[in-house]
Amino acid sequence: MRKDVVMKALVFEGPGRTSWQDVPDPGIKDAADAVVRVDAVTICGTDLHIVKGDVPEVAPGTVLGHEAVGEVVEVGGDVRTVRPGDRVLVSCIAACGRCRFCRENRYGQCRGGGGWTLGHLIDGTQAEYVRVPFADLSVHPLPAGVTSEDAVLLADIFPTAYEVGVLNGRVGPGDTVVVVGAGPIGLAVVATAKLYSPGRIIAVDLAESRLEAARNVGADATVSAAEDPEALVADLTDGIGADVVVEAVGVPEAFEQCTRMVRPGGRVANVGVHGRPATLHLEDLWSKDVTITTGLVDTHSTPLLLRMMAAGRLPAASAMVTHRFELGQMEEAYDVFSRAAVTGALKVVLGGPRHDEITTAG
Ligand SMILES: NC(=O)c1ccc[n+]([C@@H]2O[C@H](COP(=O)([O-])OP(=O)(O)OC[C@H]3O[C@@H](n4cnc5c(N)ncnc54)[C@H](O)[C@@H]3O)[C@@H](O)[C@H]2O)c1
Ligand SMILES: [Zn+2]
Ligand SMILES: [Zn+2]
Repeated sequence: MRKDVVMKALVFEGPGRTSWQDVPDPGIKDAADAVVRVDAVTICGTDLHIVKGDVPEVAPGTVLGHEAVGEVVEVGGDVRTVRPGDRVLVSCIAACGRCRFCRENRYGQCRGGGGWTLGHLIDGTQAEYVRVPFADLSVHPLPAGVTSEDAVLLADIFPTAYEVGVLNGRVGPGDTVVVVGAGPIGLAVVATAKLYSPGRIIAVDLAESRLEAARNVGADATVSAAEDPEALVADLTDGIGADVVVEAVGVPEAFEQCTRMVRPGGRVANVGVHGRPATLHLEDLWSKDVTITTGLVDTHSTPLLLRMMAAGRLPAASAMVTHRFELGQMEEAYDVFSRAAVTGALKVVLGGPRHDEITTAG
């Protein structure tokens, strides 16, 4: 049992304000909890939304962060699948395992106290230690040989891209797949769509650096959103449109463009988090037999993705990591990540003092 001590964590203090400060060390509160020492953690675009004040349910005083890799240091009496000393991935989604949605693998919709809670409704991972509820279903022991830096991108980015983009979009062999938005999520859509041998993958973004990253993870063609992606898709598909179009931006223009690029009978998979309404042009779409899906990640695919990563079948996630920091450089890391257009940041990873895999910035 650890003694009560103080640790450092990134605390949300209200819109526009965060600080890396001393907070009480988290302990076990429930018999299903585990406490994990954070060895690698990242910052998500969603964290920037929280800091801006776009996610009002996050209370001031909450420790941010929902993605981490670390070592279990303490478990509650009901925890069966992990023990102190185990190296684990902390998923962005927790699962009670008992509610109707958990029993259907829809952990994102958990009604039993799970779902997206870390760094949202309870203290999160951007800290030296984190308490993880429902540990049996919410942390994943890491296979040997998977580095912390690769694994941390499986806490949110890869399962989101794979489940909400590739699986919902039902990418199949020979398909023309268009991915609108080549941020970390869009890039992971490109990488996991390739597992299904599509005919070609076309990535669309506004930033040339992101289009270059898309080519590096396997996009066959890239086009600036400022040019005419719809004309390119039409040219490449004999005017028919794409089999699958994935929206990985989260703005109305991008979603509406996706619905113009899909072929009759095709699928539009929305991944982006939308803060404003988008128009659904049923006057054009009603007769096109299209399927439009939406989704919050469930992370039911995380064990599969971990096995794929251990087998070398996922492109190195670390290809997306542009900046590395010590855990104590959290505020600097937020600054670099939030100015991605200037800094070129794609994914930033911070490592704790015992983190063995990460070389530090600077
Ligand atoms: N559904 C889920 O469960 C879930 C989970 C995590 C993240 N998300 C969401 O997925 C989206 C992508 O996440 P990310 O981390 O990659 O975000 P990001 O902001 O890093 O990437 C978005 C990309 O879209 C590009 N872009 C902006 N406007 C565009 C336009 N009109 N056309 C084409 N490209 C455009 C930007 O240049 C950027 O590269 C976000 O909305 C995020 O909130 C959803
Ligand atoms: Zn996230
Ligand atoms: Zn549940």
